Amino acid sequence: NKKGFIFDLDGVIVDTAKYHFLAWKRLAKSLDIHFTEEENEQLKGVSRVRSLEKILAWGNKTISKDQFTELMSKKNEEYLSYIAEMDSSEILSDVPRVLQYLIEKQQPISLGSASKNARVILDRVDLRKHFDAIVDGNDVSKAKPDPEVFLIAAKLLNIDPKDCIVFEDSVAGVTAANTANMVSIGIGSKDVLGHADYVFNDFTEISDDFLNELINN
Ligand code: G6P
Ligand code: MG
Repeated sequence: NKKGFIFDLDGVIVDTAKYHFLAWKRLAKSLDIHFTEEENEQLKGVSRVRSLEKILAWGNKTISKDQFTELMSKKNEEYLSYIAEMDSSEILSDVPRVLQYLIEKQQPISLGSASKNARVILDRVDLRKHFDAIVDGNDVSKAKPDPEVFLIAAKLLNIDPKDCIVFEDSVAGVTAANTANMVSIGIGSKDVLGHADYVFNDFTEISDDFLNELINN
């Protein structure tokens, strides 16, 4: 029995939200916008362009197209400087166990991320070798909640979408998985991810038995 296991990256495999926060906060400050952690929460799973649009809207600012482009690249430069310091100690708890179990059971594994930095991050934490396919922000034209990213992953794995299982921490990502007709597993709080088929606080709550059931159902 083969299922396609698709992992979001940010907030599922590694906690990069703190680095996005630092970089967005400095950018907001340079525009005299006060940017809070609660607002940063709302940027989870949201593309880079859309994130900046939202920050500008919250701050009631309009800027030129050129300035927009410049701010985007500055933000990413700073973000990448944090990423450059990452190592495998930043992999979230029990992610390696779950990957290992799925590999032992010969299950196809893909990444399904909105980030254009996904490959760099996977290399930093030395997990890239475990993925049979990688689909990230460079490969899609429509951002989550559009299911495109996960449908491309299913195609690359050569698995029917209905036989795919998606691990996601964002509201938009769970919606994307549901729309793709995949099994959605929310990683985070039930209050936020109630629309997922299953919700766990983190991977330590996901047992090998549960994974085995997913494989055999
Ligand atoms: C993930 C994160 C978002 C981020 C997006 C784009 O979905 O949760 O916070 O904005 O990726 O990331 P990037 O690395 O391309 O700026
Ligand atoms: Mg995420």
